[in-house]
Amino acid sequence: MPFHMNGIIFLVILGVSVHTAHAHVAAWHQGMYCLDGTSGTVNYNSNEIVNPLYQLPFHQWWFHHVDRCDEFPPASGTFLDLPAGGSFMVEVASNRAKTSLSYGARDASDWPDGGHYPENYNVPNCITNPNLHAQNQSRAAGTAFAISYESDIKKVTPENLVVFSVRHNTPWKRVVWYDVPAGMPACPTEGCICAWGWVPNGCGQPNIYHQPFRCRVTNAWSITPISTPKPPVWCEGNPNGCVRGAKQMIYWNQLERNNIQVQGFDSRGDHKSPGYNHNCGFADGAQNDIFIGVPATGGNPQAPGASSPGQQSTGSGPQPTNRTPSPPYVSPTAAIPDAVPDAAMTSSLPSSSNPQPSCRRRRRPRVEKRMLNNHHARSRVRRW
Ligand SMILES: *[C@@H]1O[C@H](CO)[C@@H](O)[C@H](O)[C@H]1NC(C)=O
Repeated sequence: MPFHMNGIIFLVILGVSVHTAHAHVAAWHQGMYCLDGTSGTVNYNSNEIVNPLYQLPFHQWWFHHVDRCDEFPPASGTFLDLPAGGSFMVEVASNRAKTSLSYGARDASDWPDGGHYPENYNVPNCITNPNLHAQNQSRAAGTAFAISYESDIKKVTPENLVVFSVRHNTPWKRVVWYDVPAGMPACPTEGCICAWGWVPNGCGQPNIYHQPFRCRVTNAWSITPISTPKPPVWCEGNPNGCVRGAKQMIYWNQLERNNIQVQGFDSRGDHKSPGYNHNCGFADGAQNDIFIGVPATGGNPQAPGASSPGQQSTGSGPQPTNRTPSPPYVSPTAAIPDAVPDAAMTSSLPSSSNPQPSCRRRRRPRVEKRMLNNHHARSRVRRW
């Protein structure tokens, strides 16, 4: 019977689309909140944290409280380690099962969903498996990590959470490395709170991703604090208009506490979408311009308005954060040498002027400018 046939086909299609609509991605690491989801028991198959945040009140979108992910901290003593001047790795995936944190990586592949795709994976109508909100790697909007020097997640606010590392053209593959500014000061003994963020550029609902981690800076030597961050602004094609120095994460398309507004179209003819890329003044790599002055081991008086008071009182004494045992899935960069010569300091450079290719651990090929500028993509699917 044709009618029943159509009905069955419709249900199958509906099932597939509902599934893909929710198979977004998040950053996975033992130091994350919500590793086991929100059931309170070990769950190797959790995926609560990958759900996007869209048009929610502040208390619900902030750190994914909408499903209480912020109430499920990592195991005691487990941190996301941020080696000052080095890099750390997280796994971007659609489900914990597709990472090395489950089943000994049995179901993990190079890609976020355990699948296998061509290197130049390109779907003009948008890649939905995995749901990367992009047509290809050059269109991946960029992702970021931010840090607050508060140990209590309840004390973290948009005003004390500072973007310190950006990776352009992600999310893309599963393994992503982020570079840490050499001048990052140590966290309090209980650690810091970090956040991963992603604002996709089109290809579906214009939502955001915001997830908490417990983190700490290892091999820290500077005590120069991080500045109070300012909200980023749209500055495509106008580098002088970008916000210099410490920036807040991007909070957009929520019911409350958005910190950026955009109108009209970008240079590609698409609706402007603020992301962790040059369009909002975020250079790729470590954000070395976020401190109140040149990173230094001492004699750098704390400026008014610094966002990280308290921890400075420990001076250059032993850093307790470096003594805690490493989590089982410690990044291979833990062995990166610590001390960084003063000449490497670039803190006075505006992040928007020239991306510092920080390269040692770069996995992403640099996207050619030509590729970014030289097309008129009006075929992108925007469903809003
Ligand atoms: C990426 O996608 C955009 C939009 O569809 C397209 O214009 C561009 O040519 C693609 N680039 C590659 C390398 O496939």
